Amino acid sequence: MLDQLEQQPADALLALIKLFNADDRADKIDLGVGVYRTDDGATPVFAAVKKAEERLVAGQDSKAYLGPEGDMGFVHALVPHVFGPLGDFGGRMDGMQVPGGTGALRIALALAKKAGVGRVLMGNPSWPNHVQILNDLGVASANFRHATPEGVADMEALRAALADAGAGDAIMLHGCCHNPTGIDYTAAQWAEVADMVATSGVLPIIDLAYQGLGQGMEEDAAGMRAVLARLPEAMVAYSCDKNFGLYRDRVGALFVIGKDSADTARAMTNAYVLARVNWSQPPDHGGAAARIVMEDEGLTALWLGELGDMRARMRAMRDALASADNRAPGLGLATLGEQNGLFSILRLTPEQILRLREEHGVYMAGSGRINIAGLTSGNIGRFIDALAAVAG
Ligand SMILES: Cc1ncc(COP(=O)(O)O)c(C=O)c1O
Repeated sequence: MLDQLEQQPADALLALIKLFNADDRADKIDLGVGVYRTDDGATPVFAAVKKAEERLVAGQDSKAYLGPEGDMGFVHALVPHVFGPLGDFGGRMDGMQVPGGTGALRIALALAKKAGVGRVLMGNPSWPNHVQILNDLGVASANFRHATPEGVADMEALRAALADAGAGDAIMLHGCCHNPTGIDYTAAQWAEVADMVATSGVLPIIDLAYQGLGQGMEEDAAGMRAVLARLPEAMVAYSCDKNFGLYRDRVGALFVIGKDSADTARAMTNAYVLARVNWSQPPDHGGAAARIVMEDEGLTALWLGELGDMRARMRAMRDALASADNRAPGLGLATLGEQNGLFSILRLTPEQILRLREEHGVYMAGSGRINIAGLTSGNIGRFIDALAAVAG
């Protein structure tokens, strides 16, 4: 039977990593891989997480199963950070632990399918796994342009997409730090998004994978909260893999908000079944470590401080690129200072991207997406020189 399977294309980013590793230039720059890096180019374990892991190892007395919902202490500890004053929506909200943001999206989209969703509207470009999961589930997607060439959200395209949609459809929204463009809605635009989504009757599915990596924990959730405050139903797919640096430990949560507590409770029974058939129960370790951090005031302060340092470093790299706009005109560097998170897209042609790699040892995705955290005080000058050389 296995000979019936079709070959799948190689992952482009993994291929890029191979090329990068094979390059023996000492000053090569990797802007492809999508993880945070310090100014030394490392992706260390957060100090707050290390301390929590020490307590976890010392205090854990059983590894017995927890159930498909995972560690509910972790989920409850997350709620104030994610929803702030919205709390538990008067009992209309419930959540569960899942393996990363990907696990949350998988369950959210499978739940939408079970509930009979028509199409899922998606700004284009988006994180490629969104459409991949939809395709795997056999759910139709409808694309609209996320951003204009000037580097701001394309509200006209969003208005047209929502005008054409209605009850029975859903929309995937990036809560903050849009991947791959870094282009988030402004507060005024979020207010309009909330209005339009409420009027159209589509179900919002909000992907919040980078809270705290944009403007701040509260600031990064504000747009999402404005939508949730207006809507009778919504789902939030949350990842702790970036803002706790827990990537490989697979830590996330799915939150479901229903019209009333009975609807939510029924939806959750469906979510548990979906968890059972996908992974049965989420891995415990990373979620338990994040819970220990969030339940302890001192560790919480340490975590939020570390997250703040990451944010400040990325902001400094963005500002440095923005102020170098005149060195490489036409690439859109000026807009990078307004954008958020790990990623942005430079307006480079495929030829320029190839020249950056071959002549300058600068590696980035074929879309021109760069990982801002791949830049350091040690390499940003050389990166700007390389951009100037290919732009000229
Ligand atoms: C937009 C977006 N959503 C969700 C995820 C999933 O994150 P994870 O499954 O690693 O928690 C990612 C990861 O890169 C992402 O960029």
